[in-house]
Amino acid sequence: MINLGTTKLKVSKLGFGTFDFGVPSLKIGPPEGGQILMEAHKLGVSLWDTSEDYGSHPHIASALKLVPRKAVVISTKTNAKNGEEAKKSLEKSLEELDTDYVDIFLLHLVKSDWIDGCHQVLEELSDVKATGIVKAIGLSTHSVEVVREASQFEELDVIMTICCKASQSVISKFHEHIPLEDGSIEDMFDAIKLAHNLRKGVIAMKVLGTSAPPLVRNYRSSIKSIAKLSFVDAMVIGMKNLDEVRKNVEVMHAWQREDRQDLPDV
Ligand SMILES: NC(=O)c1ccc[n+]([C@@H]2O[C@H](COP(=O)([O-])OP(=O)(O)OC[C@H]3O[C@@H](n4cnc5c(N)ncnc54)[C@H](OP(=O)(O)O)[C@@H]3O)[C@@H](O)[C@H]2O)c1
Repeated sequence: MINLGTTKLKVSKLGFGTFDFGVPSLKIGPPEGGQILMEAHKLGVSLWDTSEDYGSHPHIASALKLVPRKAVVISTKTNAKNGEEAKKSLEKSLEELDTDYVDIFLLHLVKSDWIDGCHQVLEELSDVKATGIVKAIGLSTHSVEVVREASQFEELDVIMTICCKASQSVISKFHEHIPLEDGSIEDMFDAIKLAHNLRKGVIAMKVLGTSAPPLVRNYRSSIKSIAKLSFVDAMVIGMKNLDEVRKNVEVMHAWQREDRQDLPDV
């Protein structure tokens, strides 16, 4: 298990991104999603990521009937643009997730034109941490500039951002899959290093480029290349079924056998 920045949270290196559970055409209902999450947890995947707009809160609520609450770290997100809205969104998420607290509460998809605004909302959210209903706060973003600037925010604990080992030409060709808002992927790596040096918890997304063909075809090397980065704490990967979970867990185990000598944790 990995310590996430300066938070007291310990997370599995491989996290479960639940976006796909809410995609209507995939027809993955809460009972099925809950079972998949429960099985993933048995395999060591204890970081579960969702958002108020994914439609997967009910799937996590269903899983929480099968897995002890304290055994998992749940991250959810809000699109709120002020502190009051964010607190309301948090209350709604707690109800939908059927839990008393969320571990990580993120401002969702923060763009580079909203850096000061998001800083203010995070300041206003600081007091919810004191109540214990949230253990860590932060943001998710596709922007290099946001990662760079937000690294300096004292009250921010966690940053979730694009981090994949693709060449700039692949990134440009598959922009819809890997929607970097500004800068280059090398700039993003530098910004993530800064965040990590400033002891923010860093969670990678787009590791498989939202199913971008070159990254998914080489899913083993795509996942391993991010797992071995010392400045990335964990990654959330979107998975639709147990087969993908098992394959990705196996990649993590293979990486641990090859690159690390310590005990296997996911
Ligand atoms: N905060 C944000 O701004 C934000 C934005 C996007 C996502 N997220 C989070 O990040 C999670 C991941 O989303 P992402 O966009 O970053 O996608 P990703 O993890 O880069 O790619 C996910 C896709 O990869 C494919 N996949 C996964 N394991 C595979 C395997 N073993 N073999 C073949 N294909 C495999 C699946 O698609 P196929 O089955 O179609 O191949 C899956 O839908 C989301 O669920 C969500 O929790 C956050």
